[in-house]
Amino acid sequence: MEFSKFGKKITNLSGILELMDDLGKATREKKKNFMLGGGNPAHIPEMQKLFRKRMVEILNNKNEYETLIISYDPPQGNLKLIDTLADFFKREFKWNITNKNIKTTNGSQPAFFILFNLIAGQMSDGRKKKILLPIVPEYIGYMDQGIEDDLFVSVKPEFEIIDNHTFKYHIDFNKLKVTDEIAAICISRPTNPTGNVITNEEQDKLIKLAEENKIPLIIDNAYGAPFPKIMFTDANLQWNNNMILSMSLSKLGLPSIRTGIIIADEKIIEALGRADAIVSLAVANFGPAIMDPLIKDSSIIDISKKYVTPYYKERSNQAISFIKKYFDNSIPYYIHKSEGTFFLWIWLKDIPVKSKEIYNRLKKRDVIIVPGEYFFTGLKDEKWKHIDECIRINFGAAPLEDVEQGIKIIAEEIKKAYRG
Ligand SMILES: Cc1ncc(COP(=O)(O)O)c(C=O)c1O
Repeated sequence: MEFSKFGKKITNLSGILELMDDLGKATREKKKNFMLGGGNPAHIPEMQKLFRKRMVEILNNKNEYETLIISYDPPQGNLKLIDTLADFFKREFKWNITNKNIKTTNGSQPAFFILFNLIAGQMSDGRKKKILLPIVPEYIGYMDQGIEDDLFVSVKPEFEIIDNHTFKYHIDFNKLKVTDEIAAICISRPTNPTGNVITNEEQDKLIKLAEENKIPLIIDNAYGAPFPKIMFTDANLQWNNNMILSMSLSKLGLPSIRTGIIIADEKIIEALGRADAIVSLAVANFGPAIMDPLIKDSSIIDISKKYVTPYYKERSNQAISFIKKYFDNSIPYYIHKSEGTFFLWIWLKDIPVKSKEIYNRLKKRDVIIVPGEYFFTGLKDEKWKHIDECIRINFGAAPLEDVEQGIKIIAEEIKKAYRG
C-alpha cells in the first residue's frame, strides 16, 4: 500500500513515537526497568482515592453512569463542564469569559494538532505560516504535528548560571523577531522538558508582542495552576481574547480519560469545534463527569495545592539530591532549576558522547530516559552542540527506589562517557 505525503510524514519514526514505543515495550516486559522516560504522572494516593470516590458516586447515582456512556457530546465538548469552567474562571480569576470561550477535547494533544494546522502551514494565497517557539527546548509532542514540513521556528535561549550545578533558560528577546510568516507564538509554562517557568515579566512581554503583531499567544498550561499545579514558584495565570490557554486533566493523574480544555476567542473555539467534529465526532465525557463537582465548588484549587504540588516538590528535591550524590563533582553538569513539571533536565556540558548514544547505552541497562535532541525543533543553527548535551528524566512516575537506582546507573554511564 502506498501512503500519501501526509501518511508518510505522520508515520515517520518521530521523537514522540519512539518515546511512546519504548514506554509501551518497557511496560510490557517482565524484567525490571527503570522508567525515567515518558510523561506519566505519579500515583498520588490521595488523588487516586478521590477519583475512585467520584467514580463510585457516578455508578451509584441513579442513571448517571448510563447517561454518561450513552451520549455523544456536541463538538464544543461537555457543556456541563464548560459552564462550570466559565463560572470558575470568572469567580476565581475575574476573567471576562463566557461558555463560548471554552472547548473540551480528547486530551490537549489532539487540540494542538488541530490548532497548529488551523492557523499555520500553507495559506489559501500560497503564503507559508509558522508557529514561533520563543524558547527551545520545548515539548516534544508539538514537533511532528505539522501536516506541512517546518511548521515551527524557534529561538535559542539565554543561559543563567545559578550555581555550580544549576542553571535556567530565559527567552532571548533580542533575538525574538515576529515576522510576517509567524501565525502564533506558543510556549509551555511550566515547560516540558526543562521544568522552567518563564517569569511573569517574560509572559507579559510575550502577551504584548502577540498583541502588537495581531497574532495569538498560545500558553500550554498542562502542568500549571490552578490545577494540577505542578509548579513550585509563583507565576500568574493570565488570559485574554488574544490568548489561547490550554489545560489538561492528565497530569492531575487522569491521562487515560483524555480530557483537555482550550480557552480562547469565540471564533477559535467555534473553528476548533467544527474541526474536532470531523476528526473525533465527539469528546470523551468521563473526565468532565469526574471533575465537574471539584471545579464547581473550587475545591480542586486546594486539593492541587495540598496533594499534588507538595508531592512533586518533594520528589524533585529527592531526585536532585540523588544526582548530587551519584554524579561526580568534577563533571560539569547542570540541572535546570526545577520550577515545575515532573522532569529534570540535565545539561552535560561538553560531554564527548551524544545524548542519543547515552540513551541507547542506558536502554541496554534497562534505564529509560529521553535524549534531549528531540526538544529543539525549529532552530536555524542545528549544529549547536548544546542540542546533544542534554537528557530529560521523569522523577515522578517510578517508585522512589527506582528513581535512585536509575540515577545511579545514569551517573555511571555519564562518567564513562566523559572518560571517553
Ligand atoms: C507540555 C505538554 N502539553 C501537552 C501534553 C499533552 O497532554 P494530554 O494530551 O494528555 O492532555 C503534554 C503531555 O505530556 C505535555 O507535557
